[in-house]
Amino acid sequence: METKILDGKIVAQKIKDELKVKTHQLKEAKGIIPGLALLLVGNNPASMVYVNGKAKACEEIGFNSIMKEMPESVTEQEVLDIIEKWNNDDSINGILVQLPLPKHISENKVLLSIKPSKDVDGFHPENVGRLVAGLPGFVSCTPAGIIEIMKHYDINPSGKNVVVIGRSNIVGKPMLNLLYQKREFSNATVTICHTGTKNLHYYTQNADIVIAAMGFPQFLKAEHLKEGAIVIDVGINRIEDSTKKSGYRLVGDVDYQGVFQKCSAITPVPGGVGPLTIAMLMSNTYLSANGDIY
Ligand code: GUN
Repeated sequence: METKILDGKIVAQKIKDELKVKTHQLKEAKGIIPGLALLLVGNNPASMVYVNGKAKACEEIGFNSIMKEMPESVTEQEVLDIIEKWNNDDSINGILVQLPLPKHISENKVLLSIKPSKDVDGFHPENVGRLVAGLPGFVSCTPAGIIEIMKHYDINPSGKNVVVIGRSNIVGKPMLNLLYQKREFSNATVTICHTGTKNLHYYTQNADIVIAAMGFPQFLKAEHLKEGAIVIDVGINRIEDSTKKSGYRLVGDVDYQGVFQKCSAITPVPGGVGPLTIAMLMSNTYLSANGDIY
């Protein structure tokens, strides 16, 4: 059986195209232009690429965006002050603080300071709690995007065994919390595995769908999988590659070449899950501007 490549670029573009139309309508009908504020602290090269991608997507769809860049040496209070300003600015519907932050700034404190109704990343405990309780709220963009890929390719997790590897607040935990909900395109039996898991194979070999989000390059091998499993690779890792001009290339958390023949479908890296993170951020910002959630 041929392995299906799950193309995230197509799904993301479809979502952004729909948002562009709806944004135009929102402006015509209510005079509202969604606004996203982006905060980048320091000069982590990957973070710079991500934040620029988010600003570019705003422009493409017709949102307003502002980007604030602060040096690595900024104080926690200065970060809290800018968020306070954005919390009180009616032209801003979404606030995004790119993570990670420098060590001397408490991520928890910063994320807690974002007004839940503008928390388009879905990281505030209010939105995390709403997700767990099955209430409307902002859902973390990468896991929400994975559900969109599944919908597009008609991969319904209902009744399936899904193994999520990785328990981060950004991907693993919200992915788990989305997948077991008693609703459409959910309703799965979900197991979450992590560095404390003994005998990972035991779980993954029984999985219909494996979601790899642990941040170890090319970790998931063919021997972990059952024949015909569906593999979602959330990893984005830079590894050295002297044949590239940049000196590196991007690989996922899955040994793509090694597992390809064994699985029935797989997301590539790049071009799989990655593009959905930005598309869902745009979707959350639109929902915020339209007052759909709060
Ligand atoms: N760092 C890695 N992923 C993300 C994300 O989805 N949002 C933010 N704000 N920071 C990140």
